[in-house]
Amino acid sequence: MKLYNNGEFRKKDIDKEYTVYGWVNKRRDMGGVIFVDLRDRSGFLQVVFNRRFLKDDFALAESLKNEYCIKVSGKLIARTDDMINPKIPTGEVELMVENLEILSEADPLPFNVYEDREISENIGLKYRYLDLRREKLQRTIKTRHLITSAAREYLNNHEFLEIETPILCKSTPEGARDYIVPSRVNKGSFYALPQSPQIFKQLLMVGGFERYYQIARCFRDEDLRADRQPEFTQIDLEMSFANQEDIMSLVEGMIKHVVKKVKGIDLPDFPKMPYKEAMDRFGSDKPDTRFSMELLDLTEILKDTNMNVFRSVIESGGIVKCLIVKNNGDKYSRSDVEHLTDFVKIYGAKGLAWLKYDENKFNGVIAKNLEEEKLEEIRKTYNVENNDLILIVADKKKIVYDALGALRLKIANDLNLIDKEKMNFLWVVDFPMFEYSEAEGRYKAMHHPFTMPSDLEMLKTDKENVLSIAYDIVLNGYELGGGSVRIHDPKVQKIVFDALELTEEDIKNKFGFFIDAFKFGAPPHAGLAIGLERFTMLLSGTENIKDVIAFPKTQSASDIMSEAPNKVSEEQLEELGISIVEESESDA
Ligand code: AMO
Repeated sequence: MKLYNNGEFRKKDIDKEYTVYGWVNKRRDMGGVIFVDLRDRSGFLQVVFNRRFLKDDFALAESLKNEYCIKVSGKLIARTDDMINPKIPTGEVELMVENLEILSEADPLPFNVYEDREISENIGLKYRYLDLRREKLQRTIKTRHLITSAAREYLNNHEFLEIETPILCKSTPEGARDYIVPSRVNKGSFYALPQSPQIFKQLLMVGGFERYYQIARCFRDEDLRADRQPEFTQIDLEMSFANQEDIMSLVEGMIKHVVKKVKGIDLPDFPKMPYKEAMDRFGSDKPDTRFSMELLDLTEILKDTNMNVFRSVIESGGIVKCLIVKNNGDKYSRSDVEHLTDFVKIYGAKGLAWLKYDENKFNGVIAKNLEEEKLEEIRKTYNVENNDLILIVADKKKIVYDALGALRLKIANDLNLIDKEKMNFLWVVDFPMFEYSEAEGRYKAMHHPFTMPSDLEMLKTDKENVLSIAYDIVLNGYELGGGSVRIHDPKVQKIVFDALELTEEDIKNKFGFFIDAFKFGAPPHAGLAIGLERFTMLLSGTENIKDVIAFPKTQSASDIMSEAPNKVSEEQLEELGISIVEESESDA
């Protein structure tokens, strides 16, 4: 068995014999003496092959190549002063090899494992097992492990039980598309992979377990982004006889515990911000509060302007908001602003109006058309100063928020306004219960349909404005997790289903078994789930979710290494009672 970690040898360990294992990270052949950095997951140890001390044939040492896996024994010695390498923790010592055994040879590599140089993503994913040997992925995957073990420790200490829930399930109404699995025994029927353990964890509360958690695999067939994968993991929990404050303080305690364990940092208490305030100030329900540049309102000032672009939007119920890019106006040429205009168009905005303030006056097309007193009011209200750039969007509320919220982040990144060392945790609370889906032409539950509304009467009369008892935990502009107090009273659940315009049949088909369970003394309960990948990304300083998953999928949800998904044999399909309809040329 391997007894030592190569990266842990120090001067105090010298003058003893050791057997160490690892990979040839790099070798330097000085003719007669060969130096090898022997890597294992803890780091490196320099091992030296010298003809005078090596008992094996020296040709064996000469045959070593990068990534050979070897076993060597010998004496650990102190390096001479001129050979000390202060850059690595084991830089004061080296192992003088007496015996060498090659455990595995390695073909020439598709990329150098010892360098952290960027490689093409496809090559990295095809040879993921080699990419995993590199420093970055070794570090992020270890961080992921530290997070789950600290979370487990905390939850175990708070009397939570770790319970697994099924992977082969019935489709749950989480909002994304399900991955489905055909059943062989029940031909023509399908399982769905869970989008989250939501239903089961609530049933565990009905089942009397009171406190549940799971490091849960979840599957969602949705469009992928830099922070989304089709299969991902949640630190998922649920608790009976608990309200919103109980869950928030428990989860805050867990996050503080994890961050202390993983980063050694003591976090301050997390602020709380209502959803409406987050949208008004940051244009996002997951605001990045590491920098200011908030959305400022111009609706009131411009409601009676003669400029039709603004007035007509306001008259038809829209709003006008702006960002003020302080003291950076000179960084934006006319064509730069045109690029920003293209950017906001992605979010549905029809345009981006702008004003520059310089030499104590406003410039730009709008400056010529907007009334003098309006310009002065804007300047006074928002303390506009020389070299400020004002970027304005007038549109429906949602478009203004989406466009300026995204623009705010883009400009902050472009101008390097974000202090990357900061970790700004934030609770967002008081979410609307429903949001209107333009695509489906109906209201949908913003969190999920089992979330408790804050006001039952209002639910019946004014569903647009009713809030839910739901909360999100946000870190540096990412939605890290979310949860809610659940409905445990079937009568209340019925009112919510009615508000969602679900028919009796829909309810029975989709949630029949679930609704039935609540007829038998269901305890009040609440819970939350944190996205483990996002948490790991943020604690390890990467913006790419693939960096924190050992074997991730590509943007098109495939695994280049194992070539999943793949075609299956005719026999397998036959057994499942499935036939594939080939796409014809005209369909493609
Ligand atoms: P929700 O859908 O908000 O809530 O998910 C919780 C957290 O899971 C992470 N997440 C993802 N991470 C990576 N890739 C994805 N495709 C992906 N989708 C979601 C996010 C998100 O905040 N059952 C509820 C929780 C509850 O109410 O208890 C749920 O799943 O970090």
